[in-house]
Amino acid sequence: MTKNILITGGAGFIGSHVVRRFLTQYPQYNIINLDALTYAGNLENLKDVDHLPNYTFVKGDICDRELVEKIMNKHDINTIIHLAAESHVDRSITDPLAFVNTNVMGTANLLIGAKKYWQNDYSNKLFYHVSTDEVYGSLGETGFFYEDTAYDPRSPYSASKAASDHLVMAFYHTYHMPVMISNCSNNYGPNHFPEKLIPLSIHNILQKKALPIYGKGENVRDWLYVIDHALAIDTIIHNGKLGETYNIGGHNEWTNIDLIRLLCTLMDQKLGNEPGTSEQLITYVKDRAGHDLRYAIDASKLKNELDWMPSVTFEEGLSKTIDWYLENQDWLEQVTSGDYANYYKKQYGS
Ligand code: NAD
Ligand code: TYD
Repeated sequence: MTKNILITGGAGFIGSHVVRRFLTQYPQYNIINLDALTYAGNLENLKDVDHLPNYTFVKGDICDRELVEKIMNKHDINTIIHLAAESHVDRSITDPLAFVNTNVMGTANLLIGAKKYWQNDYSNKLFYHVSTDEVYGSLGETGFFYEDTAYDPRSPYSASKAASDHLVMAFYHTYHMPVMISNCSNNYGPNHFPEKLIPLSIHNILQKKALPIYGKGENVRDWLYVIDHALAIDTIIHNGKLGETYNIGGHNEWTNIDLIRLLCTLMDQKLGNEPGTSEQLITYVKDRAGHDLRYAIDASKLKNELDWMPSVTFEEGLSKTIDWYLENQDWLEQVTSGDYANYYKKQYGS
């Protein structure tokens, strides 16, 4: 049976890789991308695939009930892959309500829209919710996040994502809506907006600007190449069990300072700089409020039950990522024109 898939947030970083994966892997599926094109959404991310006959773009807000119902009807949607969100922790610290609106209200609106259109006929239907490992809170120096780890979100971003996960599970238990959730670790790769650590540092090295490291740089993140995340979502959608959560991660933990040192070394090699040039840009700055110490995903359920594994090592993925940014400096310029300068000044003071 063909799938008519509504992908929300498909013009963003991860969403664009998910849209590309489904468009190219499954030409028999119809893909409808609903995206509000906030500062983080960019149709350039899809320019290599947006001509495909099975692709439709709709500019709009997931909080717009009428629009969601119209799309469900018009395209006879039977699958939703929900990625649209406000996604940056630092922005959630300065503007929490925007995160509640999109991440909580927007998710509720989509669930209600799906329930109304599907009218309790849930055969061949799926609401797939893309979430984050940040809902589990902050780890100490040891241990991992498992699917049954209790939620303990600490930033307005993670709290809003936790609320959205709870709503999705509530629709499963209360209305028997077929749902799945995946909670993924930090992604990196092409098309990543340069407010996040890795693309911001690549951009600043190219501009010979300071590389801001919060606190002592000892916080740990577990990094996964974005194309492997898209592959995991594909695997879970086709083979996962309804009502289940799957953790996605690369078993790839780095302290921020070690990661930035590796990035500096690779950038110096690729730019033909003297070794050590980029490291001189490292600057320790005031720590993030409520900065989670460590995230680390145990992804063995996904590996053991669905046979998913990351396809690239971190060094390979990071090298490919840097190459993409070097080859797409016009993309970087485009996304950092406009409001980016205002955001940067407010966040970093210069
Ligand atoms: P992103 O900020 O790059 O993209 C978000 C997209 O959603 C943008 O295209 C934006 O225009 C769109 N959007 C925002 N508000 C909208 C609204 N109200 N209506 C319609 N569209 C709207 O985010 P990302 O990093 O690609 O993350 C995508 C999803 O994956 C999010 O749900 C996020 O919580 C989750 N996630 C991200 C990471 C990560 O490392 N980036 C890790 C795990 C999970
Ligand atoms: P980020 O990319 O914002 O992702 P998240 O907060 O969702 O994990 O940040 C990754 C890590 O890098 C996090 O520990 C905060 C830190 N960081 C910096 O040290 N400097 C920066 O300028 C940014 C944006 C992040």
